[in-house]
Formats: sequence, C-alpha cells, structure tokens
Amino acid sequence: MNARKLALLSLPLAFIPIACEGPAGDAEEREARIMASAYPEGAALYERQCRACHQSDGQGLAGTFPPLAGHAPELVQAEGGREYFIRVILWGLGGEIEIRGERYGGVMPGFARLSDENVAAIINHSIHAWGGEDALPQDFQSIKPEEVSELREPRMTPRQVRETRPEF
Ligand code: HEC
Repeated sequence: MNARKLALLSLPLAFIPIACEGPAGDAEEREARIMASAYPEGAALYERQCRACHQSDGQGLAGTFPPLAGHAPELVQAEGGREYFIRVILWGLGGEIEIRGERYGGVMPGFARLSDENVAAIINHSIHAWGGEDALPQDFQSIKPEEVSELREPRMTPRQVRETRPEF
C-alpha cells in the first residue's frame, strides 16, 4: 500500500477521539472515568488539564499530541524518567520527540502553578491509567510530592526540559 493510501485510511482514525467527545452527555462518562481510576484526584485533574490534548483515552492525536497510554509507564521507568516526567509537567516541553515512529514537534505548556500533590497525582494517574499498571513492576513506587518539590529549582524552559529526555 502506498503512503498516500495509508494516510487516507488513517485519517478517520485520527478523528475518533474528537468524535467521541460530544458537547454534553459527557459529564457522566467523565465521572465514570474518574471513579474508575486508582488515583481519582489525578484523574479529575487530568480531565481538566491534559485531556484536551492527550485525549480521555490517553491516545493523543497522532503527529500532534503524543500518546500517554502505553507510553507513560515506559517513560517513567526509563533511566531519569521520573525526573523527566515531573519536569515536563512543571515546565512544559518543546522540541522534536519521536514515539513509536511518530514525530511530534509541538510545544506543551507547563503546569508549575499546580501544587506538588496535584502534579504527583496527575503523573500517578497517567502512568497507571489505560492498563498502564500492568506494565509497571510490582514494587513500583508511585511519584511522591517531595520528588516534585525537589525539581522546582532550577526553573527550566520547555527546550531545556527536552534536553533531559531519556533515550529509549
Ligand atoms: C496544549 C496541549 C497539551 C496539554 C494541555 C498537555 N500536553 Fe502533554 N504534550 C503536548 C505536546 C504537543 C507534547 C509534545 C511536545 C514536543 O513535541 O516537544 C506533549 C508531551 C508530553 C509528555 C512527554 C512525552 C515524551 O515522551 O517525552 C508527557 C509525559 C505529557 N505531555 C503529559 C501531559 C500531562 C500529564 C498533561 C496534563 C497536566 C499534559 N501533558 C498537558 C501537549 C499538551
């Protein structure tokens, strides 16, 4: 199959996450997603702060917003991954990255205004959600607010955060 055909075929897929988010009626679904999470506070924050880009199913939008489902657990387990994940949430991210052969070159805003507890809760939700907990070792230590606190200094630009990204 040539590249053009492939691109056309994958087009409808890219719109599924948007199509699923009708304007109303989603409050209940949202509530259900939050209650189903092992980290309900993190899930509620995710819905408010992250879902618009990374989508409620954590799949992101190919080529625009990277997936967190399936990816967040491997990211946090990479060497330096915990620190990197926290920095991305605090300071944002800019510069090209590649995930499963797909390139992303956008900019993510930082969320340093959130409390240490909230940042930790969002990360813990993101790595355990969407079946992610099955990809974590049994003795996995969830992210602690103290780890977030330690990385508030020095402040970083999104590009500087990119330079600390672990290699996969
Ligand atoms: C305005 C859209 C937007 C919002 C809101 C957003 N992100 Fe992102 N996120 C992005 C983009 C775009 C990238 C990729 C940036 C790049 O290519 O350098 C990204 C990258 C990431 C990465 C790094 C992936 C990697 O492999 O390096 C993580 C982790 C992440 N986001 C988690 C979150 C979480 C959790 C939230 C909610 C607190 C969030 N994002 C909110 C757009 C967003």
